[in-house]
Amino acid sequence: MDTTRAVNPYCKSLCFPTTYVDKNKWKLETGERMGKSSSHSNIFIACNESSCDYVLKCIVLNANEKISSFHNEVNMQKVCASQGLCMPVKDWWECDDKQGGAIITEILDTDLSDWLESTPVAYKQQQMILGALILIYRLHVDAGIKHGDMHLNNIMLDRDGQMKIIDMGNASKFPIHDSSAERYKEIFEDYNVFLYSLTKHNEGGGRTGFYQDIEKIIKNELRGINTLGKLNTFNMSYYGALKAMTSKINQLDLQKYQPGITEAFKGREERKGIIREREERKMLARASEKLKAESKYVAEMEKLELRFYKLTGRRLSKPPGGWKMPSKV
Ligand SMILES: Nc1ncnc2c1ncn2[C@@H]1O[C@H](COP(=O)(O)OP(=O)(O)O)[C@@H](O)[C@H]1O
Ligand SMILES: [Mg+2]
Repeated sequence: MDTTRAVNPYCKSLCFPTTYVDKNKWKLETGERMGKSSSHSNIFIACNESSCDYVLKCIVLNANEKISSFHNEVNMQKVCASQGLCMPVKDWWECDDKQGGAIITEILDTDLSDWLESTPVAYKQQQMILGALILIYRLHVDAGIKHGDMHLNNIMLDRDGQMKIIDMGNASKFPIHDSSAERYKEIFEDYNVFLYSLTKHNEGGGRTGFYQDIEKIIKNELRGINTLGKLNTFNMSYYGALKAMTSKINQLDLQKYQPGITEAFKGREERKGIIREREERKMLARASEKLKAESKYVAEMEKLELRFYKLTGRRLSKPPGGWKMPSKV
């Protein structure tokens, strides 16, 4: 593809210099938008010489943001990746005017929200949620990072089903001199965002109370963390809470939730089918309206032509192939 083509109004040739193909020699494949409509960034499939297994996140800073916040995102992803919790930063560069930049990362498969929605098996959901809890814990303790936006769309699976954290745009290192109480508040915020995005899923596990019960267990255990002592006491207590919550979630009676999860999934599939049918019917109706309008137009033109002939004795010159409605009529 032509690398000078505008990628979005901002990240155009500034981010993709044509003549400078050596250092950042990434080509965009199609300029296809991958992100969900809710995301702020443009995510594109990016290719190097050998494959297109990468995405390019094009970050545009707000007027009040400094280029350091872009550097922070790059660095947080690097630290996170060094623990195996994020995909490594393959390449990155900032735009010439320091108003944004690009980060190249290996492509991931599906996010946790979509995965839960398309996997109506209580046991699998339970195991995946347990995996996510360990991931969050490890980000906090092993990487020393608060994510700052830990919702289900920011946890993705690679092709082997391994979970990775993405989107370090709001991430920060925990301050070294945190008190236990401050640290507690910070980690709790990540869980809050995670649990909110889990339970606001009104389908599947949400409707059956599965996610709500998981939320109760997690919050109960977090509330039991010792925030009165020093940070290492806090960390030990946090580990204890993780052990307790995972074991309690593991002990949940899955048979109780499974029927509801199955039912909600079927309902959703049916609704999808109904919506699809409705769309198809609408398309058919539009097509037939168009056909009707066209034949009416042709009939009118033929009548007009006949009148013209009767009046003048001359034939109108028809376009080749007969009368056709102009597309804008
Ligand atoms: N490595 C990746 N592989 C595949 N899709 C990705 C990857 N990184 C991000 N995405 C998609 O792009 C979306 C937006 O990316 P994200 O980094 O979360 O940006 P934002 O800060 O705009 O939320 C994600 O929700 C996900 O759907
Ligand atoms: Mg995101």
